Amino acid sequence: MSKNNLQKRGAFVSRIGFIFAAAGSAIGLGNIWRFPYIAGENGGAAFILIYLVCIALIGLPVMLAAFSIGRNTKKSAITAYKKLSPDKPWFIGGVSGVVAAIFTMSFYSIVAGWTFSYIFKSIFANLTVMSPDQLGNLFVSHISGVWSPIFWHLAVIVISCLILFGGVKEGIEKWSKILMPALFILLVVLVARGLTLEGSWEGIKFLLYPDFTKITVETIVMAFGQAFFSLSLGMGTMITYASYVSKSENLPKTALMVTAMDTGIALLAGFAIFPAVFALGFEPTGGSSLVFSVLPAVFGQMPLGSFFSTLFFLLLGIAALTSAISIMEVIIAYFVDEHHWGRKKSVILTGIALFLAGLPSALSMNVLKDYTWFGKTFFDLMDYMASNILLPFGGLVIALFVGYQWGVDKSIDELSNGGTVKSSLFKTYGFIIKYVAPALILLVFLNAIGILNMLWK
Ligand code: PHE
Repeated sequence: MSKNNLQKRGAFVSRIGFIFAAAGSAIGLGNIWRFPYIAGENGGAAFILIYLVCIALIGLPVMLAAFSIGRNTKKSAITAYKKLSPDKPWFIGGVSGVVAAIFTMSFYSIVAGWTFSYIFKSIFANLTVMSPDQLGNLFVSHISGVWSPIFWHLAVIVISCLILFGGVKEGIEKWSKILMPALFILLVVLVARGLTLEGSWEGIKFLLYPDFTKITVETIVMAFGQAFFSLSLGMGTMITYASYVSKSENLPKTALMVTAMDTGIALLAGFAIFPAVFALGFEPTGGSSLVFSVLPAVFGQMPLGSFFSTLFFLLLGIAALTSAISIMEVIIAYFVDEHHWGRKKSVILTGIALFLAGLPSALSMNVLKDYTWFGKTFFDLMDYMASNILLPFGGLVIALFVGYQWGVDKSIDELSNGGTVKSSLFKTYGFIIKYVAPALILLVFLNAIGILNMLWK
């Protein structure tokens, strides 16, 4: 690659940088906001078990496949598919990723905005002395305002764009490095407090004792969707990030670490929230308000509660930003790679487009709340289509592409740095990518779009 081109696309400077950036993308609202609320709505432990199986059996191998495509081609998804297979339509897997990025940012930016506003609410609104009812009401009144969600949505987009101007190495790496350890520590403190609350046992049971009678097709669809969403798979994010990585990086190790950290943080979030849900009188099915109403109440049970609450929402806000920029980078890299636009222009146009795409989501709890599609508000529809349909579709394309077009051997050659990195797991990887992942994703995917249901009847 010419020096000029390298400068335009950027690269990760340090080894640890790529791990942090990939983990920064994976760890975000998906772990701390979405995981507990989807687990709560889908029966707890049984959902979590299926989720963990998805992570190990499909998530990790698909991440490896994405890494190998990205680093081999040094391109973002669409361009990468075109480069490896110029005359077949595999690039559709990249196109669906760009669409998924737009859909995802539409609601992600709104939730990131809630998080930002809760930083200030923690300082000024005495969250920690409120009752569960008051916290619930505060959340509802916040999301049903019109200007406040739009203002915070705009703030998220503007800050993300400012970080993205710096390019990959300045922007993404730096932020991820500071954030993750701090967030981890704070979660551990929260778990400790939650577990020592009187009545927390019910919450532990909810997380650990699966009730298999509660599992439905929908539970499995949601667990799959959550696995893809949480690991940032199927959108082209991991292909794009790996395209900035050096040839000497140990990709299997990175994938393992990212997957372990991501899953660990999600479980920690679960243990921070559910014991407290039961101990303090909340409902596990509280939906998207769960984190915003339960955790302030837990902070209320701690010394310096307001301070920790502020710190928590600040860290969660930054975690959301490092994921948001990875979602936006998919679109930006598409403009840079496919249309050869400059980085600045790509960032600005992406920012404007995403601000507009987020407006209906921002308004879907207030002025647009009566407009629903398939029983879902615009916000929920964007989430459902991105997480449960587009991301699994992207994952399916990656698996089929590596398994049957590009070749498992070439992927393993890339993952092993030309045979230098040895792992007994490569064989299993090949088997899963060729047979297990496509079969399972296809099954769940067809279910999600209702085709199997139709055939059934
Ligand atoms: N994984 C991120 C989170 O958990 C969200 C995300 C999804 C980021 C897809 C990039 C691609 O918050």
